[in-house]
Amino acid sequence: MAFSCIGFSGCVLVGLVVVSSLVVATSAGNFYQDFDLTWGDNRAKVFKGGQLLSLSLDRVSGSGFRSKNEYLFGRIDMQLKLVAGNSAGTVTAYYLSSQGPTHDEIDFEFLGNLSGDPYIVHTNVFTQGKGNREQQFYLWFDPTRNFHTYSVIWKPQHIIFLVDNIPLRVFKNAESIGVPFPKSQPMKIYSSLWNADDWATRGGLVKADWTKAPFTAYYRNFNATAFKSTSSLSDSAWKTNALDAPGRRRLRWVQKYFMIYNYCTDLKRFPQGFPPECSSRSRFL
Ligand SMILES: *[C@@H]1O[C@H](CO)[C@@H](O)[C@H](O)[C@H]1NC(C)=O
Ligand SMILES: *[C@@H]1O[C@H](CO)[C@@H](O)[C@H](O)[C@H]1NC(C)=O
Repeated sequence: MAFSCIGFSGCVLVGLVVVSSLVVATSAGNFYQDFDLTWGDNRAKVFKGGQLLSLSLDRVSGSGFRSKNEYLFGRIDMQLKLVAGNSAGTVTAYYLSSQGPTHDEIDFEFLGNLSGDPYIVHTNVFTQGKGNREQQFYLWFDPTRNFHTYSVIWKPQHIIFLVDNIPLRVFKNAESIGVPFPKSQPMKIYSSLWNADDWATRGGLVKADWTKAPFTAYYRNFNATAFKSTSSLSDSAWKTNALDAPGRRRLRWVQKYFMIYNYCTDLKRFPQGFPPECSSRSRFL
């Protein structure tokens, strides 16, 4: 399915590598080719022959887009430059999702802030329609000055969230202890920019300043690498560790210095005990 752009001009197939029964294909994206602008009328725009996309939000509406292709396992990279200046009250959501009441979802949400105050990167994983697995982070850079790469690696044994190739979060497959894992419903990629000033910034205390509208976020260099198992998922090609030693060190660095919320340590929310995937055995690798 990730190959559907082959044969169309403008779609570049960067690499096709066959590793035992694991088929990996990377395609560098073109926004005209790979996405539909789904709402917000002309607030969503594609420029530069498909190399750049922008979403904007004003008092009347936000905007959004959705991938044409569906993915079942893969690595998805996108570069984003978030709403600059006073972005309080705005949320830029960038996520993968399947459809229906028992949908699976892998979420990045960027919660805006007053000029100079930090964005929050909010992450969540839904399985079988159930989320409530939030982790939130500050970033180690200003995400509004330059483009940075936000990635999801989705394999049958884990989901990894990365920023500029630095892992923020690993959600392991914990089916063996009864936690459903997204592994059968293909997902599309979505993004939207909307007004969430009832909760986004300092819990809703800071509202959007509409005199600063429109608020605009930019996207470029989308790549989707589909991992497609041609045989069973128990094939040894899937059994690699989530992260190597430097990756685990970086993950610990982010979690130590930049994580500001973890549902797995929120005692008030889970007085009867944390969800099973929070046990130290399954939390890391
Ligand atoms: C996507 O791939 C192209 C070509 O390999 C690369 O130049 C670009 O930086 C990649 N984009 C991301 C977001 O990693
Ligand atoms: C906004 O800035 C305030 C003050 O520094 C901070 O407490 C908050 O976490 C920041 N982010 C959001 C999205 O509220």
